[in-house]
Amino acid sequence: TNARITIDRDFTIGEVPRRLFGSFVEHMGRCVYTGIYEPGHPAADARGFRTDVLELVREMGPTVVRYPGGNFVSGYRWEDGVGPAADRPVRMDGAWHTIETNAFGLHEFVDWAREAEVEVMEAINLGTRGVEEARSLVEYANHPSGTYWSDLRRRNGAADPFGIKLWCLGNELDGPWQIGHKTAHEYGRLAQETAKAMKLVDPSIELVAVGSSNRGMPTFGTWEHTVLTHAYDEVDYISMHAYYREADGDAASFLAEGVEMDAFIDGVIATIDAVKAAGKHTKQVDISFDEWNVWDFDRFNNEEEAAVAAAGWREHPRLIEDTYTVTDAVVVGTFLHSLLRHGDRVKIANQAQLVNVIAPIRSEEDGPAWRQASFWPFARMSRMARGQIMRLAVSSSKGATKQYGDVDEVDAVATWDEQSGRLALFVANRSLTSDATVDLDLHGLRATGVRSAEVLTIPDSGDRHSANTLDAQDAVGLRKLDGVALDDGAVRLTLPALSWSAIEFD
Ligand code: AHR
Repeated sequence: TNARITIDRDFTIGEVPRRLFGSFVEHMGRCVYTGIYEPGHPAADARGFRTDVLELVREMGPTVVRYPGGNFVSGYRWEDGVGPAADRPVRMDGAWHTIETNAFGLHEFVDWAREAEVEVMEAINLGTRGVEEARSLVEYANHPSGTYWSDLRRRNGAADPFGIKLWCLGNELDGPWQIGHKTAHEYGRLAQETAKAMKLVDPSIELVAVGSSNRGMPTFGTWEHTVLTHAYDEVDYISMHAYYREADGDAASFLAEGVEMDAFIDGVIATIDAVKAAGKHTKQVDISFDEWNVWDFDRFNNEEEAAVAAAGWREHPRLIEDTYTVTDAVVVGTFLHSLLRHGDRVKIANQAQLVNVIAPIRSEEDGPAWRQASFWPFARMSRMARGQIMRLAVSSSKGATKQYGDVDEVDAVATWDEQSGRLALFVANRSLTSDATVDLDLHGLRATGVRSAEVLTIPDSGDRHSANTLDAQDAVGLRKLDGVALDDGAVRLTLPALSWSAIEFD
């Protein structure tokens, strides 16, 4: 495998949107309960927050965290999660067939987010609820004092407003599985009126309208078009969601799913811009890719969902606790590449989810917490992608795939931070069998030294399915990438087969 990557100082895509490195905490499975929150755990603080999990979250570096769902939010009453814990009602969560105690709610999440050093992205229920509950929540969260809802927040222990800027107008309402599923017209009008009322309470907020649940939805395209035709003026972003898995052992197509993600994003940009043009709008609506990841959803649809229902109503059952392999981690790296190279239009992105539920961090009840293989690309890119996103010219040898034809074996993105002078290159070798030799051509930039070079690949004693587990928590990680040759500004990299690397040059 060979590739040439040209980076020119003058060819940039735009500033790295820091909210691209977002994550997601849903009241689902063990993400909240026994994930981020477990009173009585040896590592829990006085509020019940697991400090071992918090440390891993800070190390991973998400910038913004979406909460409280997901499908959960479409049946949720936010008022149930505020006020004295003893008075909070126990409810049935229909989305995940789970008993919700409401021990954890908005105040707890805001406190947790402060500890985790992340921005809160709050989703409202537009499945079973509407304009009134949404504007009450904005008043409760963001108004200083002197009104019914803001004073209730103060009585509940938060004198200062939470100042939540980013709000999702519901979740996946195009999906028939969603509680309160709607047609595009129904949702478009509801989103428009809800957005209007929320901004009347706090004009500084930013709003995300629900886009398609995935590119395969029968309404994909028309949904976005109709919703934005109603609500273009009132909203700031439209959402995208996508989950990918390896089907039928077809690793080559799975490793190429970043190509599909690129095409999905390009399609949504085209739809937004068509509405913008037809409506003669001047403002630009951007994208919030607020759920993305690798997820073996076949296993959930075919077995797990029925098994959870059959087991009866319980608190925090185990749900979609996927274990991520080296292969999955390389794919996750390429998804982050796809998001970053669209950073001029994708301004927010949230990996779903943060702990236990299809998550880069795992934890056991009354037990340890550890990093999955997929933790590493996120952690490195969140920390190192700074400054300008560079517009790369990549010419790579191709690998054949069943789903996407011939696809570049080498996939890369780069950022350049003028202030620190650092150039960061993130690069995957999708080939399952061959090392890759990559020549970097730098125009108007000079690499004078290698600050760090790390690679995630198949461990010496493992295979492409190697993963971190409770019993082998560090089987897969980053190690030094030896194959970096720097000769009078010329850079040559040698990347192992099936690998993802992060290299930082001075
Ligand atoms: O992240 C898991 C679920 O996937 C979310 O609740 C839902 O929005 C999506 O279908």
